[in-house]
Amino acid sequence: MMPSTPQILEWGSKQQVQSIGLRYEVLRKPLGLFFAPDELSEEVDQWHIGMINGDRVVAVLLLKKMNDRIAKMRQVAVDETLQGKGIGKELVRFSEEFCRRQGLELIELHARKTAVPFYLSLGYSLIGDEFEEVGIPHIKMALQL
Ligand SMILES: CC(C)(COP(=O)(O)OP(=O)(O)OC[C@H]1O[C@@H](n2cnc3c(N)ncnc32)[C@H](O)[C@@H]1OP(=O)(O)O)[C@@H](O)C(=O)NCCC(=O)NCCS
Repeated sequence: MMPSTPQILEWGSKQQVQSIGLRYEVLRKPLGLFFAPDELSEEVDQWHIGMINGDRVVAVLLLKKMNDRIAKMRQVAVDETLQGKGIGKELVRFSEEFCRRQGLELIELHARKTAVPFYLSLGYSLIGDEFEEVGIPHIKMALQL
């Protein structure tokens, strides 16, 4: 079964809380890291966008508005058992359209080096040099909307 179309996960909803578990499993646990409570509470003013399969959140990303023009895409995670099936692509495409409707002009992100081919396939460009974040190599990327 494939997940439903992407949707906004309201802050504090069951699904938004569940999406933290998915982010932990996919993005933090493999690095031996946890979320600090402060880190999560700061996300109240970010958009949380997810995809649901049955009663499970199987994909999530966050969008943080940086200014009138720019959103930062962060915490992009697809359930490990469902990766490579086009779900990440659908979630990112939906989020781009969402940003356009907000009048934003650019999406920027810090891509893990391992995810760079994914963003390149979606038309994002590499910006600048490699740097380290959460202990692993990243590269800044962006898409003009
Ligand atoms: C990276 C991630 C979000 C991609 O989501 P996904 O659902 O697995 O990717 P999709 O199946 O939608 O792939 C979309 C396109 O990217 C390509 N792609 C995805 N991962 C790729 C990889 N590692 N190398 C090369 N190409 C890749 C696919 O081939 C596909 O191309 P196509 O449209 O021409 O067929 C997901 O694999 C994931 O959660 N990974 C672990 C966490 C992570 O790295 N998150 C990103 C942090 S910046």
